[in-house]
Amino acid sequence: MPTSPPHTALVPRPSNARFTHGHFTFGPDTRLRVSAGAEPAADLLRDLLSPATGLTLGHAVDAAVVFHLDSALTGLGGEGYGLTIGPNSVLLRARELTGLLRGVQTVRQLLPSEALMATPQRGVPWTLPCAEITDLPSRPWRGAMLDVARHFQPMPYLLRYVDLLALHKINIFHLHLTDDQGWRMPVAAYPKLTEIGGHRAQSMVGASGDRYDGTAHGGAYTRTELARLVDHARARGITVVPEIEMPGHARAALAAYPHLGNHPDQVLDVWTRWGVCDTVLGLHDEVLDFCRTVLDEVMDVFPSPYIHLGGDECPLAEWERSPVAHDRLRATGLDGAAALHGWFLGQVGAFVTANGRRPVGWTETGTELPRDFTAMVWRDPVHAVAAATRGHDVVNAYHRATYFDYPQSDAADEPAGQPGAVVALQDVHGHDPVPDGLPARAAAHILGTQAQLWTEYVTTPDRIEYLTYPRLCALADNGWSGPTPWADFATRLRGHTARLNALQVTSHP
Ligand code: ACM
Repeated sequence: MPTSPPHTALVPRPSNARFTHGHFTFGPDTRLRVSAGAEPAADLLRDLLSPATGLTLGHAVDAAVVFHLDSALTGLGGEGYGLTIGPNSVLLRARELTGLLRGVQTVRQLLPSEALMATPQRGVPWTLPCAEITDLPSRPWRGAMLDVARHFQPMPYLLRYVDLLALHKINIFHLHLTDDQGWRMPVAAYPKLTEIGGHRAQSMVGASGDRYDGTAHGGAYTRTELARLVDHARARGITVVPEIEMPGHARAALAAYPHLGNHPDQVLDVWTRWGVCDTVLGLHDEVLDFCRTVLDEVMDVFPSPYIHLGGDECPLAEWERSPVAHDRLRATGLDGAAALHGWFLGQVGAFVTANGRRPVGWTETGTELPRDFTAMVWRDPVHAVAAATRGHDVVNAYHRATYFDYPQSDAADEPAGQPGAVVALQDVHGHDPVPDGLPARAAAHILGTQAQLWTEYVTTPDRIEYLTYPRLCALADNGWSGPTPWADFATRLRGHTARLNALQVTSHP
């Protein structure tokens, strides 16, 4: 008889799971057998389980637990897996290693939640319920964006952030590395990007613009740290998609190298305000060379097939008055400064494409991005329709459902967040990344969904987790499983909360 005790409250929900009576128990003698290529998944399971359980899971040819990669398996795609748990054996199968990595997270969730703790737990039977699970995602892009430009976060925290994404089968970590208020990635040819652009004198307090904290803020990663992050994420089946903002949101770069702007003699500070900054990159050849040099190094550090070029919120006032911009208009035959925004992204995007990667940009209207860009739609659901209909691949990042910098409720004791909206757990859970009525051909272009955490009002890892959880659980469920009934999700989330607690996640009640 099937049962559904709380420990089977999986998030995200598997496509197909049947639980039966009985259980498998891991013990000190439990051994693992892995087929060729599956070793990294076994390593991940060992790394994840050993702190709490002390299990070593060494190799044996007649082991009870088998990880099997089989390129002939069909119907599972690149991330799907099959998991068969019997009283005496566990078989995890996938076509690709990533599928095994997803299955490892399911095994982890099926164990008692103490298995997720960071310190040795004694007297807990490490049991898995007998089950037959076949599981694959409904969407290939299930992302989470963290803005480390507004408030820098130390690398050890980013590693934990990735661990928590992996638990939820999120597969994209979008790292927002540069903005008006800070530049966080070193570029050998332009050392001042981090030396100067990595620090600001103080930060605005609140949204009104009349209060500042008087405290310097800064930080930058080393190349070695970023490479370690990429490896850590890859070992968990997560791609780190780097974002370098251009041509707007570039004030930190312009503070370091003012000649890349529209007023070569200007002296600029790294921005201390929040909001949209009028200062943007210029349109001279040297700026395009700068972008290509930066992106060369970015592509060297980040193997991601996608490179995010920003592209949002680029005020045109400087270009409208710039002789260089007017020369560009004449030379290109384009009409009006607005067209230069698409031209600029097209130039840089072509460089990314020529290097075998795919450019990604935020869309403001659904129509302004060059054709080969993947469109990250945030402002309005109709932009997703417009972009997908034009043939762009689309990531649906609609702000009223995926921006986690908005507070989770309007309760009086809710910490101040981005003003203007509340994004409740139900809003995240109920957001279908495929807009209603989208024809099948366009719907096929919707890659998936993504959570955004802009950090103007978010300074500490604790606050990041408070804003991220449990909303990310809902986004992960939605992205992996497709729309699920609210009551079903809410029941599973109650069970899942024991896991978040075991991991000491500071989550919203
Ligand atoms: C954005 O929120 N400016 C992408």
